[in-house]
Amino acid sequence: SPLSCVLLRLSTWISCYLTRGGSNTIHYLGLTHHLIALNFLIVSFGKKNAYSTAKVKVADTNFDGVEVRVFEGSPKPDEQLRRAVVYIHGGGWALASARISHYDDLCTAVAEELNAVIVSIEYRLVPRAYFPEQVYDVIRATKYFLQPEVLQKYKVDPDRVAISGDSAGGNLAAVLGQQFTYDDSLRNKLKVQALIYPVLQALDFNTPSYQQNKNSPILPRHVMVKYWVDYFKGNYDFVEALIVNNHTSLDIERATELRALLNWTSLLPESITKNYKPVVQTKGDTRIVQEIPQLLDAASSPLIADEEVLQRLPKTYILTCEHDVLRDEGIMYAKRLESAGVEVTLDHFADGFHGCMIFTSWPTNFSVGIRTRDSYIKWLNQNL
Ligand SMILES: *[C@@H]1O[C@H](CO)[C@@H](O)[C@H](O)[C@H]1NC(C)=O
Ligand SMILES: *[C@@H]1O[C@H](CO)[C@@H](O)[C@H](O)[C@H]1NC(C)=O
Ligand SMILES: *[C@@H]1O[C@H](CO)[C@@H](O)[C@H](O)[C@H]1NC(C)=O
Repeated sequence: SPLSCVLLRLSTWISCYLTRGGSNTIHYLGLTHHLIALNFLIVSFGKKNAYSTAKVKVADTNFDGVEVRVFEGSPKPDEQLRRAVVYIHGGGWALASARISHYDDLCTAVAEELNAVIVSIEYRLVPRAYFPEQVYDVIRATKYFLQPEVLQKYKVDPDRVAISGDSAGGNLAAVLGQQFTYDDSLRNKLKVQALIYPVLQALDFNTPSYQQNKNSPILPRHVMVKYWVDYFKGNYDFVEALIVNNHTSLDIERATELRALLNWTSLLPESITKNYKPVVQTKGDTRIVQEIPQLLDAASSPLIADEEVLQRLPKTYILTCEHDVLRDEGIMYAKRLESAGVEVTLDHFADGFHGCMIFTSWPTNFSVGIRTRDSYIKWLNQNL
C-alpha cells in the first residue's frame, strides 16, 4: 500500500540517518539505550506478519526456545526432499529482525527460487543479550533443525543444508561453521557456507578498506567499532584507542601473534593494498584487552581461527563490496580458507556498498542490490 511504502522509505531514511551518527542525538535527548531506540524505529516501521504466498509458506515458530521464521518453497515436481538454508540476519548484533520486510523479502525470494526451506533465526540482540549469547542462540536453533526428525518433518535433504548470513549475521554464520567443526556429530552437516559482507575481525581497524571507507555513510568505521564494543558490553571510552589499533600494539604479545594471521601485506593483492600503510603501534593500551579479552577471541573474530579449523570448513561463498569497511576481512578470509584447501568463490562487487543486498524493493531498489541478490541465489542454486 502507499502508506507502507512511505513508512519503508521513512524507516530506511531514519536508520541511515541514525547510523550516520544521529544515535548520539538520541543519547543527548536522554532516551534509553540508543540501540533500543534505533531498533524500535526500524522494527516498528518494517515488521511484517508471517504471510504465506502461493509459492512460499511462511510461519513463525521456535526451535529449542529460539524464535525462527520458516519459509517453505514448494518442492520441485521431481524432488522428494528440498534443500535448506539457515539464515542469520545482519544489524551489528543489535538491530533488525528476521521479520522486517527486507529480510522477509530476501528469504521469500531464496525459498521460492531454490524451492527450498529457509530458517531465518530471530536471535536475541544487544542489549537484551551480549556475546556469546548470540552465538549460542544461532547454534541452538541450527542444531535443533539438523535433527533427522525435524529435517524429515520439513522434507529437507540432510545432505543439502547451508549456513548463511550477512554482516553481523555473516559473522555468526562463520563462527557457527567453525564451532561445528569441533563436534564430531556436527562436522560435515553443512554442505556450504555463504557469507555476505561478513564481519570477521576486531584486531585491525586500519585495513585498506577500513582506511578507504572510514567515512562511508552506511557503515562508517566509528559505528562498526561501537557495534563491537556494544557486543562485548564494553566501554565507549576505548573507541578512539581501538580506531588507532592501540589494542593490538606490539607491546601486547598475544595480539601481535594473532595479527600475523591477518597480515594484509601478504594476504591482500597489491590492487587492494595500493599505497595504504599498516597501522601498528609500538606502544598501545594494555587495559583494553584486559577489560575486553573477547576482542582477541576467534569465537568473535573467525578470521583468526587456526588453520586446522579452517581445513574442516565446507565449500564457501563470500560476497564483498568495494564501498565497505569490511571488504578486506572478507577477501582475507577467502585467502586463508583457500590456503587451507577449502573451495572458495569470492564474489566482489565494484559498485557494491555495505548492506546493499537487502535493498531490492522500491523505493530502495538499488541495481547493485538486485545484482548481489541474484548472484548469491545463483551460487546457492549451483552449489547447494
Ligand atoms: C594510544 O596509545 C598511546 C600509548 O599508550 C597513547 O599515547 C595514545 O594517546 C593512545 N591513543 C588513543 C587514541 O587513545
Ligand atoms: C607481514 O608479511 C610481510 C610480507 O610477507 C612481512 O614482511 C611482515 O613481517 C609480516 N608482518 C607480520 C606482523 O607478521
Ligand atoms: C525501482 O523501481 C521503480 C518503480 O518500480 C522503477 O521505475 C526503477 O526502474 C527501479 N530501479 C531499479 C534500479 O531497478
